Amino acid sequence: MATLIARNLKTLKKSLLGKKFRDKNIGLVPTMGAIHNGHLALVKKSTNLSHVTIVTIFLNPIQFNNEEDLKNYPTSLKEDIKILTKNKVDLIFIPSRKEMYPENFSTYINLKKFDNILCGKKRKDHFSGVATVVLKLFSLINPKYAFFGEKDYQQLVIIKKLVKDFNLNVKVQSVKTVRDSQGLALSSRNKLLSTNQKIKATKINKILRKITLKNLKSQKAFSSFFKRKLNFYGISKIEYLEVRDNKSLELYSSKDIIGKSYRVFIAVKIGKVRLIDNFKIGK
Ligand code: PAJ
Repeated sequence: MATLIARNLKTLKKSLLGKKFRDKNIGLVPTMGAIHNGHLALVKKSTNLSHVTIVTIFLNPIQFNNEEDLKNYPTSLKEDIKILTKNKVDLIFIPSRKEMYPENFSTYINLKKFDNILCGKKRKDHFSGVATVVLKLFSLINPKYAFFGEKDYQQLVIIKKLVKDFNLNVKVQSVKTVRDSQGLALSSRNKLLSTNQKIKATKINKILRKITLKNLKSQKAFSSFFKRKLNFYGISKIEYLEVRDNKSLELYSSKDIIGKSYRVFIAVKIGKVRLIDNFKIGK
């Protein structure tokens, strides 16, 4: 069946009431566009699990705390529509900023947990903006499933908590990080990297994969050791490099490893491009 496109709330509502979507299990894949194979892994899981799949493309201004970052974020709407159509998405929702946030919009989710660490620490209000737009999309679309990538692990944890705290009727499904042949996590922002910067970026994963629970020792020792290694390859703007519990996101402690799973989290800037990655260590 043809892919529908809704560019405003009215068209979306009309489509959702139509035969194609009424009484169907909807799978929702929220994105900010510049679609790549990471996004498509979410789409694939959705088309496998749900009757119908809706992808949203919305460059959400309230999750950007930096005007320039928002301005430079890659967009490729025409190409995105082509790719999503080819991948049998049932509806693409591309709302305007004005419709999502009309002039008098004034209600924002306020996070009391998971917001003052990792990406939340430097990017003030970022996760409030993410949670607010995702809640809005859930309420507009009423999906049975919603798909989020482990690539943005803190975001995934926050969305699961949002669903739990607000008793939302949505099942959050996570998808493992999709990487290129060199191990670099796919990201829309990779499109902003020059060839040399991309080579640098691939070092992140290569170096950090050497971290194991056995060689971890203290947080401080591990962090300075691997920061030095990254520095050697010209990666010097490291925002954070931390090991945290897979579920609670508490900082790793060498006294407390039995039965626990941990994850390495990193954010770096290569040139002006901010990249994040994470992966599980141990069990
Ligand atoms: P965006 O960065 O476009 O990512 C959309 C979804 O794709 C997120 O769930 C993200 O984790 C997932 N994703 C991105 N790269 C991936 C990769 N390499 N492997 C697996 N999944 C990947 O995340 C956002 O948009 C926004 O914050 C959003 C949730 C849409 C709210 O505005």
